Amino acid sequence: MSDRTSNTIVERKHSHVEICLHGDIAFNRKTTGFERFEFEHNAIPEISFSDIDLSTTFLGKRINAPFMISSMTGGYSEAATLNKRLAETAEHFRIPLGVGSMRQALENSEYRDSFAIVRKYAPSIQIFANIGAPEIAKGLTDMEINIMLELLEADGLIVHLNAAQELFQPEGDTDFKHFLQQLSIITATIPVPVIVKEVGCGISASAALELIGAGVKVIDIAGAGGTSWQKVEEIRYTRQFGHDARFSMTGLEELLNWGIPTAQCLLDISALKKEHPEFGTIEIIASGGIQSGTDIAKSLALGAQLAASANCILKALHQEALEATIETWLNDLRAVMFLTGSASIEQLRNKSLIFKQ
Ligand SMILES: Cc1cc2nc3c(=O)[nH]c(=O)nc-3n(C[C@H](O)[C@H](O)[C@H](O)COP(=O)(O)O)c2cc1C
Repeated sequence: MSDRTSNTIVERKHSHVEICLHGDIAFNRKTTGFERFEFEHNAIPEISFSDIDLSTTFLGKRINAPFMISSMTGGYSEAATLNKRLAETAEHFRIPLGVGSMRQALENSEYRDSFAIVRKYAPSIQIFANIGAPEIAKGLTDMEINIMLELLEADGLIVHLNAAQELFQPEGDTDFKHFLQQLSIITATIPVPVIVKEVGCGISASAALELIGAGVKVIDIAGAGGTSWQKVEEIRYTRQFGHDARFSMTGLEELLNWGIPTAQCLLDISALKKEHPEFGTIEIIASGGIQSGTDIAKSLALGAQLAASANCILKALHQEALEATIETWLNDLRAVMFLTGSASIEQLRNKSLIFKQ
């Protein structure tokens, strides 16, 4: 049996949550880049604060706010508790939700309930299945895809690209050969849209072009500036082996901070969409270091359909402040909309941002 067996995955998922809650896993040499953008203040908003409408559409469905809870967990017994809380919260706010990688559910039916619970507590919202690029590259059977989609009555399949994470992971799988070819087969055959996301290193314009060519409908950029999955895995590696002799000291520092900042990805992919009017229906999710409603607002003005967050949401859940945190972020967003004279999300999208050198 390989070292990527069910027990190893359960242990890994536990430690991911624990390290994300308590470890030093933020980029220390890089930010999202959002701090370099500012909205122009509108001294004459000509709208009433109470009329501000946060609702928008995502993949053709009306949602109550331009925000999504990013893919996080599932596949071990405690994950059911986390997923239940995330599902209740997403249902309460009427916003989309992604689950964590479902590889475990494919390998071991024992863990399927920790995913299925999400649909039970979130009957009306969009829920997205999740699987990693290495699994796609190896080829998934129709039956495996059906298990994932049926467990959640999923509205789409999220595929995560995590080359840097796999590279740093003690038991990582670094074989990404044939990924695009296999992805094209899936997008052409499954009955729901495919979203491709990174996990914190960002998606460039040229990678986006290839993904769109492979039939992907939504790109979640998951850029650098928030959680560094290289750092998460580096913590796991050094716990296991004492110290990391795989890289030079200088190389290691650079690699732990590897990735394209979130705001840069948004600028580049928005420019790509402008060059190619035929990509008009491709939707962009802004994630990677989103930690306020002003970040959400800037994401929309930089071309995203919605923004998403993982680690801040996990921490808020852990502190029993999940609903309160999302509520304050949505209030930040309302405030920005008021101060830019935007009564709707559509109007906010058309506001320009000032770039500070
Ligand atoms: C505890 C935890 C587990 C995660 N597991 C997955 C996963 O299984 N699949 C996935 O696509 N992304 C996973 N992610 C990555 C997030 O979806 C997100 O892309 C990344 O953390 C960057 O966003 P952030 O800076 O808001 O944390 C996980 C994130 C966290 C915090």
